[in-house]
Amino acid sequence: MRQKIVAGNWKMNNDKSETKSLIKGLNKSIKKLSLENTRVIIAPSFVNLASAIKKTKKSKIEVVSQNMHQSKSGAFTGEVSADMLTSIGIKTVIIGHSERRSIFNETDNLLAEKVNSALENDLETIFCFGELLEDRKSGNHFNIVEEQLKNVLFQLDEIAWENIILAYEPVWAIGTGETASPEQAQEMHAFIRSIIEKQYNKKVANAVSILYGGSVKPANAKEIFSKEDVDGGLIGGASLNAADFSAIIKAI
Ligand code: 13P
Repeated sequence: MRQKIVAGNWKMNNDKSETKSLIKGLNKSIKKLSLENTRVIIAPSFVNLASAIKKTKKSKIEVVSQNMHQSKSGAFTGEVSADMLTSIGIKTVIIGHSERRSIFNETDNLLAEKVNSALENDLETIFCFGELLEDRKSGNHFNIVEEQLKNVLFQLDEIAWENIILAYEPVWAIGTGETASPEQAQEMHAFIRSIIEKQYNKKVANAVSILYGGSVKPANAKEIFSKEDVDGGLIGGASLNAADFSAIIKAI
């Protein structure tokens, strides 16, 4: 079911005590909000997931993972499996972030394996994708986004889409201070819905939540979130500050 979602991707930030104090600040500032149809999500690092779950027990905040390995278990030094995540109470995982693609060489093939493994293990998946600046400049951005979705998600059956959240994150807008305009976000989100409708049907296209990510700040959140096909945001830098992140939550 389509939902309003504000998610904070903390990336490799916040040690144990910083994690605790940021959650404390967030809990305090969102306590009085009604947030009836809105999900609030944070994605701390692996090592802080368990303590973050504990600290959010009585709050509206959901704790999710930034990544996982596609295999069930085995000799994969330094990796974390779906089972390990679900065993501590994680219900959702982010897959395909552009930093995983560009820095850790994660390909569409690998991401398809990860998404399949997450869904098989009952982990809802926030799937990230988006074009590079050169793709946007050459006018190839729609093709790139279509390819990314085709290669990873269009092999899924219709039912699996109930556990998919999309996060369109144009790479040129991530951490750069340069946001896609609300019109650019809306144009791409509407395009995404149209290709899902073509591949599946209207029901699937209208039910999926599509988040925008890339330099969302308190100052621009409201306008971006006001667009018809934008269901929320995946926030990096601004989610590391309780006042900024809660201002973004209030903007939805
Ligand atoms: P910024 O909000 O810092 O641009 O990061 C966006 C992002 O990568 C969220 O996953």
